[in-house]
Amino acid sequence: MRLFLALTIAFAVNLGLAHAQTLTLADRHSSRRFTAQDLLADPATRTVTIDDIVYHRAMTYRAIPTTVLLHRLAVGDDDYVQARATDDFSVAIPARLLETASPDSEAFVAIEDPAAPWPTLPNDKDGKSAGPFYIVWRTGSAARISSEYWAYKLAALTVTDSPFKRWPALGVEASIPAADPIRRGLDRFVAVCMACHRFKGEGEGTQGPDLAMPMNPVAYFKPEALRKLLRNPASVRRWPDQKMPAFSQDALSDTDIDAIVAWLSYKAKQRP
Ligand code: HEC
Repeated sequence: MRLFLALTIAFAVNLGLAHAQTLTLADRHSSRRFTAQDLLADPATRTVTIDDIVYHRAMTYRAIPTTVLLHRLAVGDDDYVQARATDDFSVAIPARLLETASPDSEAFVAIEDPAAPWPTLPNDKDGKSAGPFYIVWRTGSAARISSEYWAYKLAALTVTDSPFKRWPALGVEASIPAADPIRRGLDRFVAVCMACHRFKGEGEGTQGPDLAMPMNPVAYFKPEALRKLLRNPASVRRWPDQKMPAFSQDALSDTDIDAIVAWLSYKAKQRP
């Protein structure tokens, strides 16, 4: 009986009752965990109203600027910050976007007060909110902030190398010109798709399937169907548990989709 109880408690702790409610901030030398209460009490935390692309309306949050959080970490000029969520979502955000605020883009970590929980996310099967921590953005018209940089259910921010350095199998040969759509496709793939998909095992996201192993989607989708799927997966096939989101023109232009398909086709033809 005592063992059963101990196991139950260990299980509850593993489920995240102790872990998921903290935000880990780490660089290459140190790592610290913060509870919502810690961050709510931080003098840098303030009230912000955000045009929220996930909740699809204006939302008001208690939030701490990411500039403040990153100043507490050792960050190099070309570094990225891996934003890992509790649901197998993991996106690499250029550190400079989080480190500097401009009229065009300013990021915050919004903090859910356990005493005043946020609404359920639209389409969340588990009926959960975006909390306990959530990266939100104030953006100007010229900003290019990937929709996936709005990382909700956030658990950790970790300073690390650029994805292009960490995951060389994504790469494009030097002979491909700078202006080639293949390069733009790689760039968009890293900013948007890799939060959920790996490629040849590379990457961190595991919500969706690996898009190179065993087969690349260009090998079994007609190009037109693949473009339709990337714009809105439910326009190709639908089922109740479908998770991949549709992308608006703002999040992913037609040119971006063509570029991603060009990069996927390029990778499919490249010899291993
Ligand atoms: C928020 C997570 C998420 C993002 C972002 C995302 N996907 Fe997906 N994707 C999924 C999931 C999950 C599936 C599996 C089907 C489902 O549950 O919707 C999927 C399925 C797919 C499929 C179908 C694979 C098959 O064989 O059925 C393709 C192709 C695909 N994604 C490509 C992409 C590309 C390219 C991008 C970037 C533009 C992208 N996805 C962005 C989560 C995501």
